[in-house]
Amino acid sequence: MIGEIFEAEDTSLVFEPAEKPVPAEERARLLADPGFGRVFTDHMAIIEYDEHEGWHDARITARTPFLMDPASPVLHYAQEIFEGMKAYRRPGRGAALFRPDANALRFAKSAIRLAMPPLPKEMFLESVRGLVRADHEWIPDTEDGSLYLRPFMIANGSFLGMRPSTQFIYAVIASAVGSYFKGNSPSVSLWVTREYVRAAPGGTGEAKCGGNYAGSLIAQAEAIRHGCDQVVFLDAVERRWVEELGGMNVFFVFEDGSIQTPPLDGTILHGVTRDSLLTLARDMGVTVREEPYSIEQWKADAESGRLTEAFACGTAAVVTPIGRVKGIDGEFTIGGQSVGPLTLRLRSALVDIQKGAAPDPYGWTERVV
Ligand code: COI
Repeated sequence: MIGEIFEAEDTSLVFEPAEKPVPAEERARLLADPGFGRVFTDHMAIIEYDEHEGWHDARITARTPFLMDPASPVLHYAQEIFEGMKAYRRPGRGAALFRPDANALRFAKSAIRLAMPPLPKEMFLESVRGLVRADHEWIPDTEDGSLYLRPFMIANGSFLGMRPSTQFIYAVIASAVGSYFKGNSPSVSLWVTREYVRAAPGGTGEAKCGGNYAGSLIAQAEAIRHGCDQVVFLDAVERRWVEELGGMNVFFVFEDGSIQTPPLDGTILHGVTRDSLLTLARDMGVTVREEPYSIEQWKADAESGRLTEAFACGTAAVVTPIGRVKGIDGEFTIGGQSVGPLTLRLRSALVDIQKGAAPDPYGWTERVV
């Protein structure tokens, strides 16, 4: 099903340049220290859908608020999906995307799970390329700077009946970003929530939909209250297998040099960074396991020294070492709470490809400017 719909159409987007772009000096001031998800660019991509016309009115236009009917289904039933991806500055001021096809495919799969029309791959890719071409001057020149792209789709219309909508808005916005995590600590701390779960078998865990994140916010707030940076979720059935963090996947590194990450069992997001790191690790000769890992084992292995490193990964988080894990029954630390050697090696291998500082034997990067 996905192949047919996914490849069916082709389109180009009309470019309507913003009449009042942010002046260059003001942009430079904003880009000096953008943080994460606060500084937005001049344009957005939009493609509309309804059941009669299909996808139509594809355009790159000035970034403006949406005008929506208060009975739009997304506002009531959360029929919404999104993606996270980045464009990186290239030497000579060009810009490149990283694995945009992987995001296009995941977006189409999320759409199907949320009873939405999957956006054809070329439309997804053209919308993202077009926005990067329009706004690539917004990529910060800082060490960890990039342009974070947020494609999303919402159910539009005006009805309160419980059925999938027939009208949708697909859009892409862009945000100039630095590091996701604030602060100077080399590692982050996690809170193990025992009360809340993120996803259950048969649910929407592997779809990238807003509802998964809305449901995790209370647990993330609990983590902050306990002095931790991120929440870590356990499985819904046995409440012991580590699944993922509030907004990123997790990896474990062992003293024998092997690495492990929870398997994609339907409740875990198919992270593009997760997948890229698995490939890089295998090609480095590292033994890789996609197997369940329990919270008790994690504690025991950290305490015995069998586990030497752990890290979080995602488009926003890149590769971030985990230094401390805390829960209702105590806490443990990992590897001196600093950046471990394999974490650093994997992070550098990934980032160097993304930024064009190393060859890309996988064909993961696509230069767009
Ligand atoms: C990403 O890494 O792109 C994400 O979507 C995580 C987000 C919750 C910040």
